Amino acid sequence: MMAGSNPLGQSPIAKADDAGIDAAVDALRAGHVVAIPTETVYGLAADASNAEAVARIYRTKGRPDFNPLIVHIPDHAAAETLARFDDRASRLAARFWPGPLTLVLPLLPGAPVASAVTAGLATIALRCPAHPVMQAVLQRSGLCLAAPSANRSGGISPTRAEHVAHSLGADTPLLLDAGPCSAGLESTIVAVRENGWQLLRPGPVTAAAIEALLGEPALPVTEAKIEAPGQLASHYAPTKPVRLNCETAQGDEWHIGFGAIAGDDNLSPDGDLAMAAARLFDALHRADASDRRAIPVAPIPDQGIGAAINDRLRRAAA
Ligand code: TXA
Ligand code: MG
Repeated sequence: MMAGSNPLGQSPIAKADDAGIDAAVDALRAGHVVAIPTETVYGLAADASNAEAVARIYRTKGRPDFNPLIVHIPDHAAAETLARFDDRASRLAARFWPGPLTLVLPLLPGAPVASAVTAGLATIALRCPAHPVMQAVLQRSGLCLAAPSANRSGGISPTRAEHVAHSLGADTPLLLDAGPCSAGLESTIVAVRENGWQLLRPGPVTAAAIEALLGEPALPVTEAKIEAPGQLASHYAPTKPVRLNCETAQGDEWHIGFGAIAGDDNLSPDGDLAMAAARLFDALHRADASDRRAIPVAPIPDQGIGAAINDRLRRAAA
């Protein structure tokens, strides 16, 4: 990494301590992008009200313009300055925030959000993250932060600072390192509609938990237009072929195991799905970096967060 390409003159990876958090706040207020850990994955954050700053996110990721961003807010009160909450939305926020749930809600007219954040939609995706570092940045800055996952568009999401550095290199002026992310999969995305709710992306908060809270099953997702590119068939893709439900590997392959299927790397020898979720992207990064030609993955049960793991694996294999 070339120090000269770093406009802030910081070392690209900074410890997420008090000084690191203050540096992140200063950079964000000046309209820069900063990579910040959350409990799901590392995000590439910028001031959501600053069109220039938001454009920097798109440029840094190489992200297509139709793909809107999640806005991170410190609490429910801040969220209500941006979106309209009905009874369902309020109950979801009360139960699952702070945490790995994103709500897609009607955007309030005149909300201070650059139009590139919502890519012109009449809705906005909001998330109140639980990670203490992201929370501290939100609270100290007083900003609402647009933040997609801190990887190049279409690549594997980052769950460690090294993944961000590897994917974005010197294009991130500042990267706060707080170790591995605890959940390890991107947030669950729920769209709250007038007549019910839709699951736009499975994640750490399960569909069953949402259904139990709201007392009604999800509405089918019917829109022909893709709203959440997490829905694109190929996403989160390593550069090598991925195969699912493989009990064994063939020759020159990097086998990702689970439970009793040992593999070259094991997501959870005890068969713990939460641990497998937390380790999945790190395992894909390692497999991709290995000298083997393909990545067979052991079967993962489809229960609970296993549904979100299999969703990401199917997209990695597509
Ligand atoms: O866990 C996460 O959600 C992470 C961390 C950093 O918070 N963020 C993340 O962002 O995964 P990203 O940009 O990689 O994924 C955001 C997803 C995209 O699929 C996008 O299309 C969808 O959210 N999205 C954003 N605004 C939307 C809207 N108004 N309607 C429907 N989908 C929306
Ligand atoms: Mg992403």
